[in-house]
Amino acid sequence: MCGIIGVIALPGKTPYSPGVMVYRGLLRLEYRGYDSAGVASIVGEHVRVLKGKGRIIDLERRIGLSSIEGLTVIGHTRWATHGTPSDRNAHPHIDCSGRIAVIHNGIIQNFRELKKILVEKGHVFRSDTDTEVFPHLVEELYRDTNNLFEAFRKAVEMIDGSYALIMISSIEPDKIFFAKKDSPLIIGLGIGFNILASDIPAILEYTRRIITVRDGWLGYVTPTSIHIEDIRGGVVDWRRYIRVVEWSLEDATRGGYAHFMLKEIHEQPRALKDTYYGILHDVAVGEAVKLMHDADKIYVTAAGTSFHASYYFSLLMSILGKRLVIPFIASEYESYYLTASDKDLLVVVSQSGETMDALKALRAFRNRGAGVVAVSNVVDSAIPRESNIAVYTRAGPEIGVAATKTFTTQTLVLSWLAIAYAEASGSLSKSEADMLRGWLGRSGEVVGKIIARLEPVAKRLAEWFRSVGNAYYLSRSIGVPVAMEGALKLKEIAYIHAEAYPAGESKHGPIALVEEGFPVIFTIPNREDLEKLLLGNIQEMKARGAVIIGVASENTGLSDQLDYHFRIPDTHWILTPITHTPPQQLLAYYTAVSKGYDPDKPRNLAKTVTVE
Ligand code: F6R
Repeated sequence: MCGIIGVIALPGKTPYSPGVMVYRGLLRLEYRGYDSAGVASIVGEHVRVLKGKGRIIDLERRIGLSSIEGLTVIGHTRWATHGTPSDRNAHPHIDCSGRIAVIHNGIIQNFRELKKILVEKGHVFRSDTDTEVFPHLVEELYRDTNNLFEAFRKAVEMIDGSYALIMISSIEPDKIFFAKKDSPLIIGLGIGFNILASDIPAILEYTRRIITVRDGWLGYVTPTSIHIEDIRGGVVDWRRYIRVVEWSLEDATRGGYAHFMLKEIHEQPRALKDTYYGILHDVAVGEAVKLMHDADKIYVTAAGTSFHASYYFSLLMSILGKRLVIPFIASEYESYYLTASDKDLLVVVSQSGETMDALKALRAFRNRGAGVVAVSNVVDSAIPRESNIAVYTRAGPEIGVAATKTFTTQTLVLSWLAIAYAEASGSLSKSEADMLRGWLGRSGEVVGKIIARLEPVAKRLAEWFRSVGNAYYLSRSIGVPVAMEGALKLKEIAYIHAEAYPAGESKHGPIALVEEGFPVIFTIPNREDLEKLLLGNIQEMKARGAVIIGVASENTGLSDQLDYHFRIPDTHWILTPITHTPPQQLLAYYTAVSKGYDPDKPRNLAKTVTVE
């Protein structure tokens, strides 16, 4: 949802020029949006802007983004909300005098009202964006105050909506101004330079000391100092908020893989091990389980892939913990939150910790007095910050737009919580719980074998999949969220219409579409009762000419039913999302690649959806 970055430096204090640093940072933020991009710096009395529609790398060839000179440089990569992707709507946006440049991630809800007032005062607008009101507003307020920071603060007070905003001006060239509400922003602290950015990967090359900017904060950075105020009043003692991030630069680079998505699929063994050892010693887990126990009702919410992990959690809680957990899609929270009270608990799952739909659901439940447990991959992001307890996956940064390693690590954490709950409530004995935890502990190793064994199979199958127009993904019980995840992957990166259903539902409608050669992917958990039930569904599909692809244990009794078989080593069914998802990720990946698509940047999508 748009990536922003600003670099301000003393001469000779950075490994590259600020222009190059901003350009490299933009490439690392491109997963947040890639329909247009631009940079600005201060040149004498004015700001200089280079921007346009298209991918960053193409713009670099066309207009040389990285060649922008100056020691105060900002850059933006866009995912359009207001105004189509075009040269004129690309950020940065400037005021009439050409002395103020602004980049923004979020939405200024009241921009129409503000624009009307500004146009009446004679301001000329050059774009259709909501953002452009901001530099004009500051220009107008500066006329009255003759104090740039004061004008910036007043302008921030006048806008409604969500924003991570960065502004530079030739009036005070040695500052980058910033403000934040509901869109992510961090400050990277350097020696002789400072950086502002939407996300950690953009700054890892230069520093790992960061401050996560909180909602309501605004201020400015110079090359050697930081000033932060809270919009509700008072100077912020920012030194208290400095932390050192654990992620390394290798985590944020492709490291020899053709795409981030492929790298992240391959990182799953490591990510699962790190997550397992992380939660093993995490006191937050015990606290989360206690909240679950004390709650009257438990809800779980998320969006997209994280919802699939949440749904899995609700099924496990019912199977292992004999406890109803109500799953709902975060953007649908309005239909649920009125049933919650201060005795209830909401579990929010979000890899980025910044998804607006999930944040809105969280806030609605909090306003009803409910407790909140967050499961996230990003320390200190908005959702964990606003929750009572945060339990973290340790997947490392996920840059490919399609979630992969964060899904399997989320299901590991959520399985752990469900097992702990079931043990504490007496529905699992200690030895049963230990046995299940043992399987979670081995999941990294098992997934390593699965990827090595099944990557060539996925590659071969993709040669056929590139020509299919539709696919069904079916399963039962704990396999259904995995089928949903498989279908989402194929849809979002290979642009093939794919739908997931509980297999029993297929004869209530969907089977009408099945004809000779129609691909149906069955996720077959390693459970005899489910295999028996799925046999009937497979046969119904076969009878209509469907081609059956089974993701199933190597020892399944159903192998003679399968036209293609992703052979999963025999493990406990509790690992189903962890063992059965990677082959489906690989199938989607290789299908997208063989169709000539870039799986890291699927059309119309951006990672971290910070708008509703
Ligand atoms: C799909 C995908 C999205 C995200 C969703 C929630 O591959 O990545 O569906 O899962 O936007 O994002 P987070 O987990 O950051 O809240």
